[in-house]
Amino acid sequence: MERIVEIEKVKFESEYENSLRPTSWDEYIGQDKIKKNLQVFIEAAKKRDESLDHVLFFGPPGLGKTTLANIIALQMSANIKMTAAPMIEKSGDLAAILTNLSSGDILFIDEIHRLSPAIEEVLYPAMEDFRLDIIIGSGPAAQTIKIDLPRFTLIGATTRAGMISAPLRDRFGMHFRLQFYTTDELSQIVQRAAIKLNITCKKDAANEIAKRSRGTPRIALRLLKRIRDFAEVNNENFISLETAKYGLNELGINEFGFDEMDIRFLQILLSAKSRPIGLSTIAAALSEDEGTIEDVIEPFLIANGYIERTARGRVATPLCYDLFKLSSVNSGLFKDMQ
Ligand code: ADE
Repeated sequence: MERIVEIEKVKFESEYENSLRPTSWDEYIGQDKIKKNLQVFIEAAKKRDESLDHVLFFGPPGLGKTTLANIIALQMSANIKMTAAPMIEKSGDLAAILTNLSSGDILFIDEIHRLSPAIEEVLYPAMEDFRLDIIIGSGPAAQTIKIDLPRFTLIGATTRAGMISAPLRDRFGMHFRLQFYTTDELSQIVQRAAIKLNITCKKDAANEIAKRSRGTPRIALRLLKRIRDFAEVNNENFISLETAKYGLNELGINEFGFDEMDIRFLQILLSAKSRPIGLSTIAAALSEDEGTIEDVIEPFLIANGYIERTARGRVATPLCYDLFKLSSVNSGLFKDMQ
């Protein structure tokens, strides 16, 4: 049990309020469709005095899956217990988690696509019938003991929509795919967070940070904190556009929001002159694992039309070549290639 990160409600609420994450729907910016649907489903569950149906969130890292789970818990006035699939090694680990839940609790399992098939088997009756089937012994003498579980809500999160097994996916009553945020949404998130950090961030500076955050609040907030460091060391009591641009350039994030890894990735594809490059070749060239490339680097580049995944490998799109031409004139983004 000690491997489960348990968050008691009181502790969770006070810690949470101190952080930059929103704690209510009013504060939560973006993902409007998901927000609207969840509000309806939560209200309906509360009206019926039932626990919420199980929820599955898909999407690249940093878009707010954990934040949404926490808001759901607050809205349902429920305790939330958080864990991640790699921590659940044996079916006994999961049985211990499930038997310690109380009625109405929310169990959040991050990286749920990484559960082993044996553990998924334990989860199915728990999700469907709130029942734990424990097999004792083996062979002809094996016996199944059934234990009733309290009605709980499972919230699963995954960066890999394609890697979650169909039987597990089908047992979630709600599926939500998180989208990248617009620059305008990220700018609002940055300005709101700046207030919480006790610093003024000019609107144009917030926009600049937002433009270079790969559509991802987690990145925007990290950049805001670093730009605040540049401003404070310069004895500035607010973040100006100039400081934001200076700091972002110093951090290696260029005018298109690409960081050093994106640039190296795109350089590999651009130098292939439209020939598709396999994922394993790219991974070897970048000394990065394939999962990180697929989960972290590629989704933003694909969503913005810079690259495509084809059956034969990855290719840069004409838009990416245009950007290359533009930037080689303007800023030397891909200067190593000229
Ligand atoms: N902080 C992180 N994500 C946020 C969001 N979606 N809205 C407001 N603040 C946030």
